[in-house]
Amino acid sequence: MSDWVILKLGGSILTDKSADCAINRESLDTIAAAVAGAGTDGIIIVHGAGSCGHPEAKRYHLDVGAESGKTDGIYVTHRAVSGLNDAVVTALREKGVAAIGVHPLHVGVADNGRLVAFESRHLEQMLRLGMVPVIHGDVVMDLSRGACIVSGDQLVRYVAAALKIRRVGLATDVPGVLDEGRVVPVITRRMLESLHIGDSKHTDVTGGMRGKIDELLGLADAGIGSDIFHVSRVADFLAGAAHGGTRVRGEEE
Ligand code: IPE
Repeated sequence: MSDWVILKLGGSILTDKSADCAINRESLDTIAAAVAGAGTDGIIIVHGAGSCGHPEAKRYHLDVGAESGKTDGIYVTHRAVSGLNDAVVTALREKGVAAIGVHPLHVGVADNGRLVAFESRHLEQMLRLGMVPVIHGDVVMDLSRGACIVSGDQLVRYVAAALKIRRVGLATDVPGVLDEGRVVPVITRRMLESLHIGDSKHTDVTGGMRGKIDELLGLADAGIGSDIFHVSRVADFLAGAAHGGTRVRGEEE
């Protein structure tokens, strides 16, 4: 296991999900300051799309794939989320973080909606050079469906396993996973049945909170636990302090 950290920023904290690609600069600046102040060695940032990608993906039905001759949605969706990626990288660099954008469309391949290849050796090299790679949920070419959407959460799972990263944190607009309004401190696969987890009210082609937990339970099965917390607790998570959110873990952790 490495000492590197993955920090996932949900699309809902970077954009106003009810408007068309409205980037929340204030939230972005606060997160960038927390990352700059953390002094953690080796952070990979993964972010979602929010309103810069989900509406486009839905409009072009990329959740079911792409057909020959009907590929505008691939370009339009990738452009939207790449624009958000640029904004995230710029905000981090303004705070002195050596951030660099990496686009999954260029380095990943999926089959039936799941990544089957994702080059991650260059991420390791970036980390060794003290850089902070910033990757994002993206449209990716799919061997069966033509194209598909790979969520930031799926990327988190893939990259954490590939790079043997054991500290994985997901910042969201809620304080953790909520069951009837209360934060659930720990979730395991066995506990899932008894929980009542609500769904996102905004356009989300990748499954909302339930999709997130499914990915994280997959990661927990591989021995890597993860934490879901409110965006205001990013600095606490990076410092290894209590964050008041939810820990997703394997049965025997
Ligand atoms: C979705 O990524 C990517 C696209 C729609 C292009 P995510 O599913 O990780 O985004 P959020 O965090 O839910 O907004």
